[in-house]
Amino acid sequence: MRVLGIIGSPRVGGNTEILVNEVLTGAEEAGASTEKVFLNKLDIKPCQACNSCYKTGHCAQKDDMEPLLEKMEQSDLWILGTPIYWWGPTAQFKAFLDRWYHPKHQNFKGKHVIIVIPLGGGHERYARHTVGLLEDVLNYLSIELVETVLAPGFNRRGEVRNDTDLLIIAHNAGKDAIENSI
Ligand SMILES: Cc1cc2nc3c(=O)[nH]c(=O)nc-3n(C[C@H](O)[C@H](O)[C@H](O)COP(=O)(O)O)c2cc1C
Repeated sequence: MRVLGIIGSPRVGGNTEILVNEVLTGAEEAGASTEKVFLNKLDIKPCQACNSCYKTGHCAQKDDMEPLLEKMEQSDLWILGTPIYWWGPTAQFKAFLDRWYHPKHQNFKGKHVIIVIPLGGGHERYARHTVGLLEDVLNYLSIELVETVLAPGFNRRGEVRNDTDLLIIAHNAGKDAIENSI
């Protein structure tokens, strides 16, 4: 099993990275091989709606997205992590998601996803638009949502590290997904 962690926060060592790391460690413990990418370190331009990808099979923008789509195709389980920014995902994550428009998304059917979302607000409802957005996209593309890990009430970089219960939930999400052979 190959697992790909995709981090939509610009903060290295932030709450998203810590939780995604924990999911990946759990998956490794169950025998998976893992890899992690930081969207903020990649060059992923916003979709231009030119439909080149449908005409030529390739995006007209030569940036890091097509190699990332290939990595996604080669992985069985994706850990999609983004903090909440103004009730939505980060701009980096939304630009990445818009680029799924590429016809390669037809190969996404049957993939598995664990969503990871930290947020500063103290209640899970502040993540509802982002959770709904991802649930609808995944459902539309016949991708299976295995688990959603929400972490409300964390603002400072790395603060989630103090919540042992949440770290265990994230760890077990990765471990269980692999042990149950997703
Ligand atoms: C630009 C910006 C917008 C934010 N908007 C929200 C929001 O609408 N609701 C919320 O609960 N937290 C909001 N937050 C707080 C982050 O979701 C929170 O700090 C999160 O833990 C950051 O995760 P990270 O450490 O992985 O970057 C915002 C933070 C930033 C920087």
